[in-house]
Amino acid sequence: MINPKDFSAFLASRRSTRDFLPTPVEANVIEELITDGLTAPSWSNTRPYMVAVASGEVRDRISADMLRRAVVLTGFRVGSLADKIKFLFTPKAWPISDHSMIAAYPVELQPRARKVGKELYGLIGVPRGDKQAREAQWMKNYEFFGAPVELFIFAHKDLGVHAANDAGLFSQNLMLSAHARGLGTCAQGAAVLWADAVRREFKVPKGYKLLYGIAVGHPSDALINSFGAERLPAADITVLKA
Ligand SMILES: Cc1cc2nc3c(=O)[nH]c(=O)nc-3n(C[C@H](O)[C@H](O)[C@H](O)COP(=O)(O)O)c2cc1C
Repeated sequence: MINPKDFSAFLASRRSTRDFLPTPVEANVIEELITDGLTAPSWSNTRPYMVAVASGEVRDRISADMLRRAVVLTGFRVGSLADKIKFLFTPKAWPISDHSMIAAYPVELQPRARKVGKELYGLIGVPRGDKQAREAQWMKNYEFFGAPVELFIFAHKDLGVHAANDAGLFSQNLMLSAHARGLGTCAQGAAVLWADAVRREFKVPKGYKLLYGIAVGHPSDALINSFGAERLPAADITVLKA
């Protein structure tokens, strides 16, 4: 058995990695991570998720395609009138994906999202209100932060939230397994704006919808990897007695 204190310390030491070395991660290691992911519990043991492993040329093609589209989308968000018009006439850049990314955060959760953004951008010296610099950092999502492997996680639409929940349990096991091997990971909601860029490269079975990506690789010693997002005290998410 693992000492609980050591286990807690291990869990707490996992942090999202947002800058990777180009050092490759071998296919057999990725298979081991997936195998560890599959030790997670699952709804009737259905494992209603699938993973597409993008490395090498496939990874590069998806990244290049997403980057091209992201540049046009960014133009719409923070660019000139001409950039906005270009976006409207570039349907490939429209973020029409399997799941909506546009949903607003519930009011009570907004402060948490704002806080992490403020602190992350603060650490890397992006001034408040500098939309261009923020977009430049956001754009790195489409380089998968330099990771040599990007995993795309799909969940079966017919099991709804249960499939998404199972995919999350799988992914967390996988990310912890990577962490145990000294590898870094970053879950990436940003990587699913254009599911067709992924589908073109893989035979994704019918009914599976793209949920998020996970960048996997060797962390660099860039400042951004020292970021420590706030961890809430248990009381903040514990429901009070009526
Ligand atoms: C489903 C999911 C999607 C995420 N999407 C992104 C993303 O697109 N880009 C990014 O930089 N971080 C992304 N993150 C990482 C979160 O910002 C990060 O997990 C959170 O701030 C807590 O930090 P930690 O992972 O270092 O503990 C995502 C995390 C999850 C679970």
